[in-house]
Amino acid sequence: MEATPRRCPGGCRRRWRRRWRRWALAAGLLGAAAALALFAALREPARAGGEAVTVLLWWEPFGRPRRLADCRRHYNISGCRLSADRSRFAEAQAVLFHHRDLARHGPGGLPRGSPPRPPRQRWVWMNFESPSHSPGLRGLSGLFNWTMSYRRDSDVFVPYGYLYAPPAPRPFVLPRKTRLVAWVISNWNEEHARVRYYRQLKEHLPIDVYGARGLALAEGGVVETVSAYKFYLAFENSQHTDYITEKLWRNAFSASAVPVVLGPRRANYERFIPPDSFIHVDDFPSPRLLATYLKFLDKNKPNYRRYFAWRKKYEVHVTSFWDEHFCKVCEAVRGAGNQIKIVQNLATWFES
Ligand SMILES: *[C@@H]1O[C@H](CO)[C@@H](O)[C@H](O)[C@H]1NC(C)=O
Ligand SMILES: *[C@@H]1O[C@H](CO)[C@@H](O)[C@H](O)[C@H]1NC(C)=O
Repeated sequence: MEATPRRCPGGCRRRWRRRWRRWALAAGLLGAAAALALFAALREPARAGGEAVTVLLWWEPFGRPRRLADCRRHYNISGCRLSADRSRFAEAQAVLFHHRDLARHGPGGLPRGSPPRPPRQRWVWMNFESPSHSPGLRGLSGLFNWTMSYRRDSDVFVPYGYLYAPPAPRPFVLPRKTRLVAWVISNWNEEHARVRYYRQLKEHLPIDVYGARGLALAEGGVVETVSAYKFYLAFENSQHTDYITEKLWRNAFSASAVPVVLGPRRANYERFIPPDSFIHVDDFPSPRLLATYLKFLDKNKPNYRRYFAWRKKYEVHVTSFWDEHFCKVCEAVRGAGNQIKIVQNLATWFES
């Protein structure tokens, strides 16, 4: 009988070792995958409630439909589903009501009770206009659970902009300034404090007015046009607590022009921005004396440059309408517990 050839001429041990290594590798991979899955499963509930939050826009602001953002991609806020589809009412954890549209449709335009309002659903009143431009505030008491506005004491506070201190701020370079004072205004109303003040100020110093009544803005828009100016008149259309709009954040700060503000009092501005980052009309007893000061700064570079000292530390964020607002509501819902809240006296609070 012929001897069976040995099946492992080179030595079975080596082959076994190879096989063993392959198994070990596979087992290791499997184990790692299992550990990862377990880790993710354990983490999930801790991440604010686990399942996704649906935020329903009852009206799209000003009746203009738009593509809704991916909150995770744009703002690093995960677990959000934004929708303008009213058939999702029953599943929504929050429903947003934009005040201007609510005023237009009247309370009859609110959800009618069928399907019924889920007890844990939050109705959020959303408004970024000032009280002077918010008709129909009466009769809205006891309807909403949260407010969202530019007021710091809102349940969901979304300012028009803010300063933040990045770990490594970009070095600030002041754009070349060839002009003195700019103002962009679209809604010209002789009754507004800002127009009255402008009329007095322009008696003492040249002001370039852009907008519906004035010069046309350059191709690049407000920021590019204003960046050639040393000063910008960040005059609000009405004066109210915390009502500080893109006129300051974008038109002045983003354009690196020193804002001359007319709005709430200086102390109110100082809750949001450094005292030496702006000039307040109240700092001067008259428009003539403000004009004198601006002309002084125009001739004194070191004094002018002091208005930019804060840029060593801070950068400017301009809030973008409306995605950021919608995503902030979602974030607030995810971070909130189950406590019940009802907004009583909406008008009294908002007008205070
Ligand atoms: C995104 O959010 C997560 C969790 O809140 C955080 O750990 C991470 O640092 C954020 N990433 C960025 C780029 O901000
Ligand atoms: C929301 O408000 C309604 C009444 O306006 C109230 O019945 C409901 O309990 C509130 N829900 C929450 C979660 O606060």
